[in-house]
Amino acid sequence: MDEKTGVTAAALAAIPFRSLGTSGMRVPALGVGTNRWGRRGKGADELLPVFSAALDAGANLFDTAEVYLGSETTIGECRRRDPRPALLVSKFAPYPTRLSARSFHKALEGSLTRLGTDSVDLYLIHFPFSLLGIGILVDRLAEVARAGKARAVGVSNFSARQMYAAAERLERHGIPLAANEVQFSLFHRDPEGNCVLEACRELDVALIAYRPLAGGRSPQEGSALGRTLAGIARAREKTVAQVALNWLLRKDEHVLAIPGATSVAHVRENVGAVGWTLDDDEFAALERSST
Ligand SMILES: NC(=O)c1ccc[n+]([C@@H]2O[C@H](COP(=O)([O-])OP(=O)(O)OC[C@H]3O[C@@H](n4cnc5c(N)ncnc54)[C@H](OP(=O)(O)O)[C@@H]3O)[C@@H](O)[C@H]2O)c1
Repeated sequence: MDEKTGVTAAALAAIPFRSLGTSGMRVPALGVGTNRWGRRGKGADELLPVFSAALDAGANLFDTAEVYLGSETTIGECRRRDPRPALLVSKFAPYPTRLSARSFHKALEGSLTRLGTDSVDLYLIHFPFSLLGIGILVDRLAEVARAGKARAVGVSNFSARQMYAAAERLERHGIPLAANEVQFSLFHRDPEGNCVLEACRELDVALIAYRPLAGGRSPQEGSALGRTLAGIARAREKTVAQVALNWLLRKDEHVLAIPGATSVAHVRENVGAVGWTLDDDEFAALERSST
C-alpha cells in the first residue's frame, strides 16, 4: 500500500494518477462526487460501504463543498469509521453577503470541522460571482495555502479569462492555480469551445470534470451519440458510463473526473472506466457523434 495515498498496489496499477497542475500533488484521475451524500437521510450508515469501496478501488479523491448539504458531515463520519487516507476537495461559496476575510476563514473552518481534518487537499472558490472580484478572493485562497489549511488551491466554474486572472494573482503569492472544476463530458463539451481546456493546457492547470455522466441520464434513444456509445460498449464489453468516462480521461492529461455515486455498484462500475483505452477510431467516432 502507498503510505501517502493509502491506495493498494492493485488499484495503483489500474487508476492512473494525474497532476493537480504544478502544485506537486498527484491524485487519482477518477474520484467520487458527493453532492448527493447526506441528502434524503443518506448518511454514513448508508454511505460508508460506498466510501470504503472507493478507497478499496483507489478512487480515494472525494469532491465535496460546504453547500452540498450533509456531504461534508457524512464524509467526516465515514473517515472516522474507515480511517484509510482519503484526498478531500472542498469549496467556498462566495455569496454576496460574505465579503469579509473572517467569513471566508470561518467557512473553511466549518468545512474542516465537518470533515474532521486540519487541512483539505484542494480548496476551491465554488463560482466566480462575488462583489469582491477575483483578486481579493484569490488572495484569501493564498492565505489558506500559506497557513497549511489547503495543500493546493483552485477555482470552479471560472471562464478562461477568469482563470488567467486567478493564476496571475496567485503567482504573485508564489502559489500555483492547481485546478478549475467545470462541467465537462461527452454530453457537454463547452470547455473545448470556450477555451477553458486550452487555458488548462497553457497554464498547466487540472480540469476537474463535474457531471461527467450528465447526471446519470442515458443519451437520447436513437441519437447518434446514443448509438455510438452503445455500439462501443457492446464491442468492448463495457457499459455506456465506462465508455463515456474513458473518452473524458483520454481527452487530455489535464482532465480528472468525479462521477457522483451513492451506490457501491456505481463506484465499482466507474472504476472499470480505467485500465483500458478507447482506440483512435472509437475516440473519433464519439467525437463526431457528440457534436
Ligand atoms: N463545482 C460545481 O459547481 C459542481 C456542480 C455539480 C456537480 N459537482 C460535483 O461533480 C460531481 C458529479 O456530478 P453529478 O453528481 O451532478 O453528475 P454525474 O456524475 O454526471 O451523475 C451522477 C448520477 O449518475 C449516477 N451514476 C453514477 N455512476 C453511474 C453509472 N456507472 N451508471 C449509471 N448511472 C450512474 C448516480 O447515481 P447514484 O447516486 O445512484 O450512484 C447519480 O444519479 C458531484 O457529485 C459534485 O461533487 C460540482
